[in-house]
Amino acid sequence: MGTLSKIILSSIGKKSIMAVSGIMLGLFLLVHALGNCTTFFGREAFNSYASHLHSLGCLILFFEVGLVVIFLTHIVLGCMTWWQNKRARPHSYEVYRSSGGRTMGSKTMPYTGIIILFFLFVHLQNFHFTDHSREISAIVKGVLIQPFYAIFYSIAMLALALHISHGFWSMLQSLGINHPKYNSIMQRGTLSLCVVMVAVFVLIPALTLLWPGFLL
Ligand code: HEM
Repeated sequence: MGTLSKIILSSIGKKSIMAVSGIMLGLFLLVHALGNCTTFFGREAFNSYASHLHSLGCLILFFEVGLVVIFLTHIVLGCMTWWQNKRARPHSYEVYRSSGGRTMGSKTMPYTGIIILFFLFVHLQNFHFTDHSREISAIVKGVLIQPFYAIFYSIAMLALALHISHGFWSMLQSLGINHPKYNSIMQRGTLSLCVVMVAVFVLIPALTLLWPGFLL
């Protein structure tokens, strides 16, 4: 094995790459949540935001390819870390019980990760690989007005909330960004950011389903 692959596959290498890819995915989510906020200002604002994005042409394609690479890296390294931890701690129940400090978010990382991945396939099928001859607001409304999709999106967002509530905090730890004096502020800060982002993502299906005037 070459030196580079040894570094990447070492425990610290994997943790650092997981953290950096997590930060990039977190930034994508933040920008996506901010962009989606235009739905709250009506159909025209949302369509105009989407058409500005599409007018970036090649840049968008470059960004999409990057996003796929980052997602795949995060998933593959996440699975490897989970598998190695499982092999190292076969009686995980006793370890969890005695460690005491594990949160719901950290215990459920692999499961919430799988739900998010499944959500992504459905989401891209709904909004990306679809007929774009209609306005994007009509596409979003057409999907989320169906109770099945509105509920599915909301449940997936709860999984996202759990995943990133632990992920953001653990990213900072992996990158060595911690200080006893500021840890509790940083923990509350990352949690608040998750809550706000997820609230935006949950509000959209909820409003589409419950308020007939939304996105009209
Ligand atoms: C209610 C919540 C959400 C709504 C309404 C929404 C809406 C959209 C829309 C309209 C697009 C653009 C499709 C296009 O023009 O090609 C899109 C793309 C995308 N969304 Fe979402 N989204 C939501 C939540 C999420 C979440 C939580 C994630 C990640 C976990 C996500 C990941 C993506 C990705 C990866 C793309 C493709 C980006 C691209 O092709 O450039 N979305 N979303």
